[in-house]
Parts: sequence; C-alpha cells; structure tokens
Amino acid sequence: MRERKINRRNFLGTASAAGTASLLAGSGRAFGGAVPEGEKLAIDGGAPVRETPLGSGMYGPQFYDEVEQRELLDVLASKRPFRHSAGDSKVLLFEKEYAEHLGANHALGLTSGTTALMTAMAALEVGPGDEVILPAWTWYSDYDAVIHAGALPVFTEIDESFNMDPEDIEHRITPRTKVIAPSHLQGCPADIEPIIEIARKHNLRVLEDCAQCVGGRYQDQYLSTLGDIGIFSFQESKTITAGEGGALVTNDPEVFERAVRFHDVGILRVHSVALEGGTLETFPSTNFRMSEFTGAVLRGQLQKLEAIVGANRAHARAVREGIADLPGIRLRKQSDPDGDVGEMVFLILDTREQARQFMRALNAEGISARPPGGSAVLPAVPHIENKVTLHPDWPSFNSPQGRAIQYGRESCPRTIDILQRAVGVRMNPSYTEQDVQDIIRAIRKVYVTI
Ligand SMILES: Cc1ncc(COP(=O)(O)O)c(C=O)c1O
Repeated sequence: MRERKINRRNFLGTASAAGTASLLAGSGRAFGGAVPEGEKLAIDGGAPVRETPLGSGMYGPQFYDEVEQRELLDVLASKRPFRHSAGDSKVLLFEKEYAEHLGANHALGLTSGTTALMTAMAALEVGPGDEVILPAWTWYSDYDAVIHAGALPVFTEIDESFNMDPEDIEHRITPRTKVIAPSHLQGCPADIEPIIEIARKHNLRVLEDCAQCVGGRYQDQYLSTLGDIGIFSFQESKTITAGEGGALVTNDPEVFERAVRFHDVGILRVHSVALEGGTLETFPSTNFRMSEFTGAVLRGQLQKLEAIVGANRAHARAVREGIADLPGIRLRKQSDPDGDVGEMVFLILDTREQARQFMRALNAEGISARPPGGSAVLPAVPHIENKVTLHPDWPSFNSPQGRAIQYGRESCPRTIDILQRAVGVRMNPSYTEQDVQDIIRAIRKVYVTI
C-alpha cells in the first residue's frame, strides 16, 4: 500500500510542498496548480475553480465538416448505397485506408463492434467446447460474442491499468482454451506483450478488442496488429464515428477469409481479389456488411483520427505531469504512455469512500469526475452470474466445465476493489490550455484534502 496519510494541511506545511509550489510558479510554464493555503473547497462554500463546468462532448462528431459532407454527398449522388453495387466503394476504400493506417494486411468494415466480435469468433473457429479468456471488466459484447459462438467465457481480474492482468491468465488456461481476448479500455492499451507471450507458449490465439482505444499504440505498433486479430467500434462514443460501425483487422489471410465469408453470406465478392480467390469452403454465415454511408463518414473521420488522439494525448500528459508531485499520488498504470490515446486521467485512491468524496469535491469545482465507465463488471451482471442463455440446450454451460464455472462478485474481488477506488477526468480535443490548467488546479486543490 502506498503511504498517503498526508492531508492538505500538513502537505501545505511541508518544505517539499512549498518547494513544489515555488518551483512550479517559477518554471515559466502556465501552471494553475499551486493552491494558496486556506483556499476553501467549492463543496465547502468556497469559489469553484470553474464557474462554467467543463463540457465533455463526443470526439468524432466535433470534427464533422465538409470532408464527411462531400463523402456522403458522393454516395447520395451515386445512388449506390450498397457496397457491392457502388463503383468506387467507400467501404472498400475505407478498408484499404484503415489497413494502411494501422500497418495491417487486411481490414474489414462491419456494422458494429459487436458484430466484429462475433465475426472474430467465427474467424478464429471458436465453438462449443472451447474456452475464451476475457477480462472481468469489459463491454457486454465481449461476453455475448463468446456465448453466441457456443463457447465458455472465463474471466481474469484486471490490474491497475483497468485491463486484463497478464499475471492472472496462465492458471486459467485449460486444454479447451482457444483464445485470449484482452480489451484496451478507456483509451489505455492493455499490456499486450506478456499476454501474447503466454498465448504463444500455449498455442492460443489473441483477439484484441480495440473498440475503446481507436488510434492506440503499443511500443510504436498500432493496437489490433499485435495479436492475431483485432476489432474496432465506430459507435458514437468512440474516437471516430459514423454513429455505428465496426471493423476487423488481421494479417492472417485464412483468418481474414473466414471473417469475410462469415460477414457476407459465405461469399468473398470484392475480397476475392486480395484473397486470390480464397482457399476455404463456404459455411453458414450472416450479413454484417457495412453500408456505403457508414464507409463514407468513416473515410472522412479517419483523416481526423490523429488530430483527435494527438490533442487528447497531449492534454492527458499535461494533467498527469501537473499532478505528478502530489504526495503519494497513484495514477492509472500505463503499459505504454506514448500509445495511450489520452481519453481519461485516472487517480486511484485508498478507499471507495475517498474516491466518492474526491468525485463530489471535484464536480463542485466545475470539473466532471467519474468512476471508470463504458464497461461492466461482467461476472456480477445478474444474467451472466445466473448463466442465462437463449435456449436451455445452449452449449456454453452444458459441458461439465460450463456447469462447474461460477461467476458473481466473489469471482473478481480485485477488479471490483480497483474500480471502486478509481476516479477519472475525461479529456477532450476541444480543451484549451486554460481548461487543462483548471483540471490540474482542481485536482491539486481537492487531492490534498482527501
Ligand atoms: C470494449 C468494447 N467492445 C465492443 C463494443 C461493441 O461495440 P458496438 O457498440 O459498436 O457494438 C464496445 C462498445 O461500447 C466496447 O466498449
């Protein structure tokens, strides 16, 4: 445990705090953090750091402009909204541009992140009798995709990155394990290298869920290209968006062929060119094809991706640096700070009560603070804990392993503990230097009272 029994009064009285304040004041950097002694918190009736609370709009739509308009108008003018009747298909162009951007061999446009996960399961040949390892804290679709494949979800705890803990994987591997499926959550890459090492050692496939980390990198490589297959979501709350949409990325031609066939009634159509006609037999499948309207907007959004991520990353870095000297400060663990997309800056406090107090006080200062979000503690979700399925004979829980497995809160105590002690502030590409300084100032003001 960290030692942080210092409160605001004795922090402000220490030589190091005085030194920090004067150091920062004299650094020449616009810094809003040095808190004058005796400043009353807004929650106690003092003046808030911000009179107007900091806004928090969605990222991608802020950047909609004539680029997306032109792309969409092209589709309307062509009167060909279906990718396979369009001439210069926007979806096909987006797939090529996205693969190129990521440095991947293949990208496939899909209707959502959820259908991308289902397609990934089919592409990796996950089925009844197989087990898939996923983190206890992630989005419902990760679990649903495993269940829809008829396989058994096995959860790991998270670590202080809020992502799959690589230390908690190996003892969960059985002869039936087929895939390890880490998610890169709320903008922070999972520690993917040790996860891939474990997978290789046990001859398993790695599925990276990059839905919440579009544009994220790990050791200078784009997420989704490190494992065997990666998926993305372009739903409204993601980094770039067409309202809905998804993609699947892989370097493996056979995995890609299975994905293409599964997402489009078993056939290859235009992808037959990249796959040189393909080598596999067709099989029962779906229609998860992306529309030309979605492809058009995503082509435009892709041009804005690095600007969005670059701004958020710079803001998050400034906030982290601006609070790094606070005594005993504990920030969310980052596997690769340069690859983090900077969506959030999280502090981890000692207790749940401190986290709640911190959130209330920070919100009163006009800075929106919240617990980790966008995911659920899946083993504690009632229908998951109760192993509810679509049909009583569903294979997932009808095997001896499926019958034996137990979910519920008791199965992931560390995950629950970490999440309830975490408090985050969301970054936004629209923030000004002043906004960033206000965040730093508010965190410093509140932190030393907790
Ligand atoms: C981690 C994660 N995976 C998958 C999805 C599913 O994406 P979609 O909403 O596009 O189906 C989401 C959506 O929020 C997500 O957060």
